[in-house]
Parts: sequence; C-alpha cells; structure tokens
Amino acid sequence: MNCLEKRILKNGIVKNANVLKVDSFLNHQIDIKLLQEMALEWQYRFKDIEINKILTIESSGIAISAIVASVFNVPLVYAKKEKSQTIEDDFYKASVFSFTHNVENNIIVKRDYLSEDDNILIIDDFLANGCALEGLIEICNQANANIKGIGIAIEKGFQDGGRKIRNIGYRLESLAIIEKMSDKEIIFRK
Ligand code: G4P
Repeated sequence: MNCLEKRILKNGIVKNANVLKVDSFLNHQIDIKLLQEMALEWQYRFKDIEINKILTIESSGIAISAIVASVFNVPLVYAKKEKSQTIEDDFYKASVFSFTHNVENNIIVKRDYLSEDDNILIIDDFLANGCALEGLIEICNQANANIKGIGIAIEKGFQDGGRKIRNIGYRLESLAIIEKMSDKEIIFRK
C-alpha cells in the first residue's frame, strides 16, 4: 500500500456512495510532504518519458501539480474555468461538464502556453467520469501538443473515467484506485 492509499484510509471520509472527502490533506488543507512523496512516485512511474510541461485544471489540481512540476523541473500550466461564453481568439477552449457539481464550465488555456513543441504530463487530483480529463485532452489536441502520460491521485474505479481514458490508449497512472467504498470500508484495486 502506498503513502496516498494509507492516508486515504486514515483521513479520508466517505460522504456517500460516490464522494470521498480528502479536505484534510489533499484539497483544502494540504500536506506538502505527502504531495512530495506522490510526485516522486509519478517520477518513478514515468521515468521512461520525456516531458517539458505539466498541465492541470484549477483549482484542486494546481497544488499537486506544482510539486510535480518542481520534481520534474518543468513549468506548470493550468486550465482556467471560464463561465463567460465570449472568449477571445487567443485561447484554446473546451467545454467540461461536472457531474459532481452539475455545472458546465468552459476551460481555457492561452495559446502562448501550449504548442506542438510540448510534451505534456497531465496531473489531476480526482478521476471520476473523466470529463475534466477529456477537456484537457481536447485542449492538447487543439494545440497539437503531445500527451505523454496522465497522473491521477485518486481514481474512483467504480466510475467510468479510467476505463474510457485507458481505452483511448493514454498511459494513465493513478496512485490510488478505489474499487468500492462505504462509510465502513474503502477497498483499493491491487
Ligand atoms: P470528472 O471530471 O472525472 O468527470 O468528475 P466529476 O465531473 O464528477 O468531478 C467534478 C469535480 O469534482 C472535480 O473537481 C473533481 O476533482 C471532483 N471530484 C470528483 N469526485 C470527487 C470525490 O469523490 N471527492 C472529491 N473531494 N472531489 C471529487 P472540480 O469541479 O474540477 O473542482 P475543484 O474542486 O478542482 O475546484
């Protein structure tokens, strides 16, 4: 069992059959030492790929990605959520529906910060239905940037996102994959 799985068992709170709260260490109060260990684990798992940029989405992805970017010694770009429909031409744009929050957001990245010269590692905190990842992939495709890998902290394996993304052929490394969870137990995929 890795450090993130151990921490989820210690401090994660299952809110209902679908939502795991990790506010105390990952996305509200943040344990930087844990993030450093997670970043080193991704560095090990992706040691065979060459990247020059990390891409994530605001807001919870940013802190994790900042530490990962520091370990890989590359810049971090994050997609911004933009409610307004009128966006200038100098942005890549994709539409992302959040099932958890039941809201549609445009996500945008300035064209200056992503191009066909970029080899990208995408990082995010949660993978549930995969909509956020699909939006980030769409933005990379618009920029003709190369997606070399995807690192997810917590994949909810009982939702469809991981299967969809792996089926398309992306290399997806999730540090903790939850097979099932209830208020009594959390079971990780081996
Ligand atoms: P998807 O992106 O994989 O399709 O999932 P979904 O629409 O369900 O998730 C939307 C948001 O909810 C994402 O954050 C995601 O990180 C978060 N999320 C999904 N499942 C869980 C969960 O079990 N626990 C927690 N704590 N968060 C979850 P977001 O809307 O992009 O917002 P932000 O929190 O990063 O600002």
